[in-house]
Amino acid sequence: MTTAGRGALLALLLLLLAGARPCPAASPPAPPRFNVSLDAAPALRWLPVLRHYDPDSLRAAVAQVIGDRVPRWVHAVIGKAAPELEQRLPQPFTGEIRGMCAFLNLSLADCLLVNLAYESSAFCTSIVAQDSRGGIYHGRNLDYPFGNILRKLTLDVQFLKNGQVAFTGTTFVGYVGLWTGQRPHKFTVSGDERDKGWWWENAIAALFQRHSPVSWLLRTTLSESENFEAAVYKLAKTPLIADVYYIVGGTSPREGVVITRKRGGPADIWPLDPLNGAWFRVETNYDHWKPAPRSDDRRTPAIRALNATGQAGLTLEALFQ
Ligand SMILES: *[C@@H]1O[C@H](CO)[C@@H](O)[C@H](O)[C@H]1NC(C)=O
Ligand SMILES: *[C@@H]1O[C@H](CO)[C@@H](O)[C@H](O)[C@H]1NC(C)=O
Ligand SMILES: *[C@@H]1O[C@H](CO)[C@@H](O)[C@H](O)[C@H]1NC(C)=O
Repeated sequence: MTTAGRGALLALLLLLLAGARPCPAASPPAPPRFNVSLDAAPALRWLPVLRHYDPDSLRAAVAQVIGDRVPRWVHAVIGKAAPELEQRLPQPFTGEIRGMCAFLNLSLADCLLVNLAYESSAFCTSIVAQDSRGGIYHGRNLDYPFGNILRKLTLDVQFLKNGQVAFTGTTFVGYVGLWTGQRPHKFTVSGDERDKGWWWENAIAALFQRHSPVSWLLRTTLSESENFEAAVYKLAKTPLIADVYYIVGGTSPREGVVITRKRGGPADIWPLDPLNGAWFRVETNYDHWKPAPRSDDRRTPAIRALNATGQAGLTLEALFQ
């Protein structure tokens, strides 16, 4: 996916689903692409997409993700609280979830849970980089559990406003947030989990305080922010239910940043600094100012590969490799 913008190469967003780390370098499987019209009512806008899938396998996938990821007590709490949460959580997300849920004959609680469960399981690597001509590149992979299920449920979505593509993203059927997306000719965003261990209790409390799930803020930013700077500001400041890393790429030289988020605001902002040799930033799932743990160091191999590529050698293909 590339777009030319103001003489600079815009970003590349890759989604690679893999069951194991590190991700194998293979050519990217192309997921199906659908239009979702934001001009349609939230409860209706995803139904044309759902009609392309078998409802029984979607229900089975929901049951498996919940069985695997969600503790029983959380399931029980959300089951009781679903109607109240629905009132407190922002639109259009709850309307979209309710609409899909009704179509699939699933309970609202299960649909909410599936949309929240991924928040705690996204291990990934994101890279934002600038080539020697000032072009900005942005690449990411995702290492989720349930790779085999999610691979079949992965889709690229073009979100339309007034019939025009307002922003695009890669997600899973039934999942209304985005971990990866771009606003054409403006900016790109990816999210990487910031692993803080067990997070359910705090997250539930934060939901009731109307903090945003991290993938919902990512989508809202793509929808509402007009440029790179506005996107960085919104992603850095808006209260969240969990910690996260947001990686943002723009269309002009030096527009690239890793935002390390606490729930309440930014913990750190780490921009590209190409004039001082920092032509790329690599973020996996650990704070960049601390060493990566030996048991899960995906950062050093990525940096070594980028060093070997060199700024002059940066291309979409090189970044993908
Ligand atoms: C949902 O349930 C209704 C009534 O039992 C049934 O007619 C409909 O086909 C079901 N929808 C799906 C997608 O399974
Ligand atoms: C999706 O929307 C775009 C922009 O309106 C349009 O050009 C394209 O034909 C649509 N694709 C489908 C499959 O409807
Ligand atoms: C990458 O290159 C930088 C600048 O030359 C160097 O400081 C760093 O140690 C290198 N890292 C790896 C992992 O090769």
